[in-house]
Amino acid sequence: MPRPRAIARRYSVRRTTASFVASIALVAVLAIDHTAATVYAAQPLGSLGLNDGVPLTIAHRGDPAAAPENTMPAFEAALASGAEVLELDLRMTADEQTVVFHDELLDRTTNGSGPLAERTLAELQVLDAGSWYGSAWAGTRIPTFDEFLPLLQGSDARALIELKGLWTVEALRPIIAGIYRYGVQDRVVLASFELPTLLELWREAPSLHRAVIVRRLPDDPVDFAASVGASTVVTSLRSFRVDPEAAAMLQRSGLTVIVYTLNRGDLWQQALDLGVDGVVTDAPRRLATVHGALQG
Ligand code: G3P
Ligand code: CA
Repeated sequence: MPRPRAIARRYSVRRTTASFVASIALVAVLAIDHTAATVYAAQPLGSLGLNDGVPLTIAHRGDPAAAPENTMPAFEAALASGAEVLELDLRMTADEQTVVFHDELLDRTTNGSGPLAERTLAELQVLDAGSWYGSAWAGTRIPTFDEFLPLLQGSDARALIELKGLWTVEALRPIIAGIYRYGVQDRVVLASFELPTLLELWREAPSLHRAVIVRRLPDDPVDFAASVGASTVVTSLRSFRVDPEAAAMLQRSGLTVIVYTLNRGDLWQQALDLGVDGVVTDAPRRLATVHGALQG
């Protein structure tokens, strides 16, 4: 029988980037017994044997080969690409609104600069999040999560929603409420590298699926995932080079296995050979075509 609290605490200590504040939050959340409260809906990202042996195509930040990442045109392009799953990143503004954005800083993908978290939604909504990608995209805005949800609702896609950084339960509540308001709760998985954030989600919305993202799998990945209440593990292909049996072992334990972020045919083949459930890619149209051909 795993010892979730002890395991989660151990992994939390291993994360050198975790702040002291995060550790305090983790200890507080671990004081709660989650196990009895966890009632999962059907797994949106599949599991062993449920995807005809062909991994799901997961469009990384939308379709960044077709439009600027994490914008509405990128998500619309991803839906048109044939990808089954949209991946996106969420961050919170200075006035506690949730926006779809990857970097901590505005500089790379907008005409703004500095930390996004220091800007209000109104300040962010006048920024150009498209010109960096191409002049045809000038004027493209940073979307809010509330703008993304109707697009997801109106499609048959699923979503892998990554929460960047640490989130309090108060900040998570509007996200959870939005997911239920649009009725997409059975089509989303909430993901994070941050263990305290996953634990907050587990406590606040135990029926929503959660994914733990780790660059390298730990020695005991099943116990690790269980310790944060995750039904999905998102990791690098390199994790499985160390232990090629790990993917099947995770799946036998009921976990969904996703690899990120693969953009070449030889790597897609390796993921297929491993039998993973999904592949995150910056080239969803190409990968969906490959997967479509495999499905006949
Ligand atoms: O799906 C996992 C992947 O998106 C994590 O990396 O940096 O692209 O958000 P990043
Ligand atoms: Ca991401």
